[in-house]
Amino acid sequence: MKLNHLLSKTQILKQENNALLFNNKQAKQLLEHYGSPLYIYMEDVFRKCCQDMKNLVTYPHFKISYAVKANNNINLLKIAREEGLSVDAISPGEIFLEQAAGFDASEIFFVSNNVDVSEFKFAMERGIQISVDSLSQLDLFGRHFPNSKIAVRINPGIGDGHHDKVITAGDKTKFGIHATELQEIKNIAAKYNLSINGVNMHVGSNFLTIANFIAASKVLLSNAEMFIDTLEFVDIGGGIGISYKDGQEVDLKLLGQTLDELFYAFANKHNKMITFCIEPGRYVCAQSSILLATVHSIKTTPFTTFVGTDAGFNVLMRPMAYDSYHEILNCNNVRGEQTPVSICGNICETGDLLAQERPLTATKEGDILAILDAGAYGYSMASNYNARLRPAEVLLKTDGKAKLIRRRDTLADILANQILD
Ligand code: LLP
Repeated sequence: MKLNHLLSKTQILKQENNALLFNNKQAKQLLEHYGSPLYIYMEDVFRKCCQDMKNLVTYPHFKISYAVKANNNINLLKIAREEGLSVDAISPGEIFLEQAAGFDASEIFFVSNNVDVSEFKFAMERGIQISVDSLSQLDLFGRHFPNSKIAVRINPGIGDGHHDKVITAGDKTKFGIHATELQEIKNIAAKYNLSINGVNMHVGSNFLTIANFIAASKVLLSNAEMFIDTLEFVDIGGGIGISYKDGQEVDLKLLGQTLDELFYAFANKHNKMITFCIEPGRYVCAQSSILLATVHSIKTTPFTTFVGTDAGFNVLMRPMAYDSYHEILNCNNVRGEQTPVSICGNICETGDLLAQERPLTATKEGDILAILDAGAYGYSMASNYNARLRPAEVLLKTDGKAKLIRRRDTLADILANQILD
């Protein structure tokens, strides 16, 4: 039941002789060719997720700004662009990658946070829309770029997300300008003749029910009225969750209908068809990827069994950082009986666990594990901790062919920035 759900979700995992295949290429062949561990992306799933976002509402002026912090591989950015998505950016580095992927300045939204003026300049010189995240940053912007357009990020007071660390609105977060400071936004804008052309928010990451997101969107829309004369867009942020576990997922149909109601009501009330934007990261890329890892050791202690793999938290940090759940399957034994094991990596920390006491089919050295839904905040949060090499990334194209889209690190790469006397 569970497996069938996963199989239909990815549409591409196929079962044959009790082993998982990827478009008829065995996982083993992929690892032999590209090395282990390995991030695999399925183009058709990625495109489908882009389309889900594109088709979310019927409101005509709707923009999807893909939050590339989730995954910034330029090959995926190019596909997102082909699918008609725009992008958001948190840094000049992301802007650089987005322009390299072919995005026009008008398709990029720089959602800045605690930046110095050089980052504002970087975006302004390129004609990219910026949002600022505090009154002091608005003042800094105004001093250097009077008579400009600028958006402001509001904290709607309601957050959501899968973990405290990724809730980005409400009482405990550094993000957004509080609603009590709206008048001060106007004062600073007047001082520098700034035109507040957009308001934006982001409640947090991976919400699975929509109530908080909708409540926060309503708060943002009511705050936006303060700037209605100059307002061109309202961006309600990202955070749309995916089903990592048990098939629980966001009801996209309900979300789309509810947003449509809000969007049309606002446009009608103000007789102004402003643009509405969302900033999904995870939804666009998470489900398209499988991380393959190789089992190197099985250790049974009096307390548990450790399945030791080559996918440490330098490769996939989410379980270590947030106790996140990723479905894990043994490609060599898909349907056997399951017993609980702890699945770990090869990093020198006890917290280097992909899963704890997780039911897994009988596993032996050399088996290949498939870690599902690894496309968001997987490679983009990978590191060279312990001087480990980050893995390669491979795209399984819709025609079934595998294409290397990022090579594996080499030993020379980890020395590259160090100064040799
Ligand atoms: N917009 C802004 C301003 C953001 O800060 C983020 C994510 C997004 C959009 C996209 O959110 P998404 O749709 O992907 O939930 N590393 C964590 C997630 C951190 C999210 C950071 N901001 C994780 O692995 O769960």
